[in-house]
Amino acid sequence: MRKPFVAGNWKENTDSRSSVELAKAVVAGSKGLAREKVHVAVLPPFVYLSSVVQAVSSSGVAVGAQDVYFEPKGAFTGEISPGMLKDVGCTYVLCGHSERRHVLGESDELVGKKLTAALGGGLLPILCVGELLEERDRGQMEAVVARHLKTGLAGLSAEKMSAVTIAYEPVWAIGTGRTATPQQAQDVHAFIRNWLTDVYGAEVAGQARILYGGSVKGDNARELMAQEDVDGLLVGGASLKADEFVRIIQAAA
Ligand code: 13P
Repeated sequence: MRKPFVAGNWKENTDSRSSVELAKAVVAGSKGLAREKVHVAVLPPFVYLSSVVQAVSSSGVAVGAQDVYFEPKGAFTGEISPGMLKDVGCTYVLCGHSERRHVLGESDELVGKKLTAALGGGLLPILCVGELLEERDRGQMEAVVARHLKTGLAGLSAEKMSAVTIAYEPVWAIGTGRTATPQQAQDVHAFIRNWLTDVYGAEVAGQARILYGGSVKGDNARELMAQEDVDGLLVGGASLKADEFVRIIQAAA
């Protein structure tokens, strides 16, 4: 059985006060669900990680970062290492979010290096994959998703794959209010699980968690979660409102 997983990606939002308030409200609203019925994580901006870790301490809510660099330390101005994230109490880290790929210009190769380094540093990576609208329209969705999987998981053993979560986030559904239909999500999630089966075998693929992200709301969470291969949700905008995020956690649980 794959336990559902709901993560809130706060992106470049919140401030020192609202990040702590939001984290505490998520803890209060998910009491009895987080950890027992569903894995819950919040992913604040780097600078609020420590205070959010403190705000959720001894609750079932985990904390993760939105990005990481692959070098452990050194002259890499502005970068944050896996060890630093671990040091402040992070459990998860996003690798290859579409905004990093398409706005910040991260290459497939860089995403793969970050994921390997994150695992090596004891973090649980969430590898984001997903196509642009024009790629979908050109019939390239599967090729793009397969390339993101292949390069993101390059050189990873089956054993290590068990620590990785995949998040399918079609770029055209992110922040647009245009959610993928449950069937569209299921089709791609099944494609991802088949890809994992081919590479890592049925057992690893059967245990792998595949999240859907892109305009997830309290209103559509349940029907997305009802799909066989949708194991959880990666939530952007709706994770900034505690009530809405808690509704999504309840739907997933
Ligand atoms: P929205 O839920 O705001 O569409 O963002 C999705 C996302 O990018 C989560 O990582």
